[in-house]
Amino acid sequence: MSATPQAKRVLSGMRPTGQLHLGNYHGALKNWLELQYQYQCFFFVADWHALTTGYDDTSRLPEQTHEMVIDWLAAGIDPGVATLFVQSHVPEHAELHLLLSMITPLGWLERVPSYKDQQEALKEKDLATYGFLGYPLLQSADILLYRAYGVPVGEDQVAHVEITREIARRFNHLYGREPDFETKVEKAIKGLGGKNATLYRQLRRKFQESGDSTALEKARALIDSNTRLTVADRERLLGFLDGDSVAILPEPQVLLTRTPKLPGLDGRKMSKSYGNTIGLREDPDQVANKLKTMQTDPARVRRTDPGDPDKCPVFDLHNVYSDDKTREWAAAGCRSAGIGCLECKKPLIERVVEDIQAMRKRAQEFVDNPDVVRTILAEGSEKAREAARETLDDVRRAMHLRDA
Ligand code: TRP
Ligand code: SF4
Repeated sequence: MSATPQAKRVLSGMRPTGQLHLGNYHGALKNWLELQYQYQCFFFVADWHALTTGYDDTSRLPEQTHEMVIDWLAAGIDPGVATLFVQSHVPEHAELHLLLSMITPLGWLERVPSYKDQQEALKEKDLATYGFLGYPLLQSADILLYRAYGVPVGEDQVAHVEITREIARRFNHLYGREPDFETKVEKAIKGLGGKNATLYRQLRRKFQESGDSTALEKARALIDSNTRLTVADRERLLGFLDGDSVAILPEPQVLLTRTPKLPGLDGRKMSKSYGNTIGLREDPDQVANKLKTMQTDPARVRRTDPGDPDKCPVFDLHNVYSDDKTREWAAAGCRSAGIGCLECKKPLIERVVEDIQAMRKRAQEFVDNPDVVRTILAEGSEKAREAARETLDDVRRAMHLRDA
């Protein structure tokens, strides 16, 4: 068994919504760009997740998947370092989802905040389906299948990683127990050697008695740094720290994505459903025009009225795109009515368009050669499957669905 969280593995997914906008870029993609060089990253198109709310019309899924992946590549996601794949190409997600569904209490799913919120928000759809209720569990399966150490998500998805941790704990408790666990653990502790064995026991006691999480971290580090341990003993020692079982499915961490405020053209949050977006690869002239007519501080009716940058969505974009000098110039000019809104927008438009041009340029190769995108996804999916199969083998064995 190889059940330690894969220390360097990160997993995240996105629903195939077609072409992405700047909100998606600053809210998630930009973060992925950094992570891809720090971790072994798995990024996937969550097409089955799209079905949980969009089961009525699936005809555009292929195109939306393709366009979104081009946007990932345009943004600089590098298939040479990160593994890009499509969820439905890795059927292991479905098998793990099914197995986990057996041990998941209904109440856990009903209590996930997005369950009621989304049903409320998407009233026009009938979301009283089995698949929709199970959507956070499908996400748990996505994550646990790769034994990910970390999951980069926004605030709205934190509850889903939390439930994933609970499911993992329940699974490990139910199936991670070996009949002679205590004896084997004792042997493994002795094997650490006198000093480390004592330290391990101390740290474990400290964590168990007072919930001291630093002690837990230290104990884990102690085990991680020991290169002579067998894989099985390592699992036992890790499992014994916070329970009585082997962690077959390790609990993932939330890697919370800090997202800047990114308003759309009407000042509300940029979102496809509001129709207020700027596309990541949109035509530059069109982008310039959109920005020229973008909502500003409503108090600035005439050019001579002073404004308040804090009440202006354009200024939020300055905060994301402009350097300090430009930002200060804009803020001062706004407050004193020294500059007009168009003038204020000019340097911003240049910066945004410059960014978009760079993305368009990177995307061109993939627009011209759609097969390259298909190959990237096919190869990525194969790689993902290998990792997924390893976990599922352990899961099946632990559940006695295969010979040990
Ligand atoms: N549920 C996520 C969303 O709607 C997408 C997603 C699916 C995901 N599986 C995941 C994100 C696993 C992180 C990890 O945005
Ligand atoms: Fe907004 Fe700039 Fe106009 Fe002020 S001058 S209201 S910050 S666009």
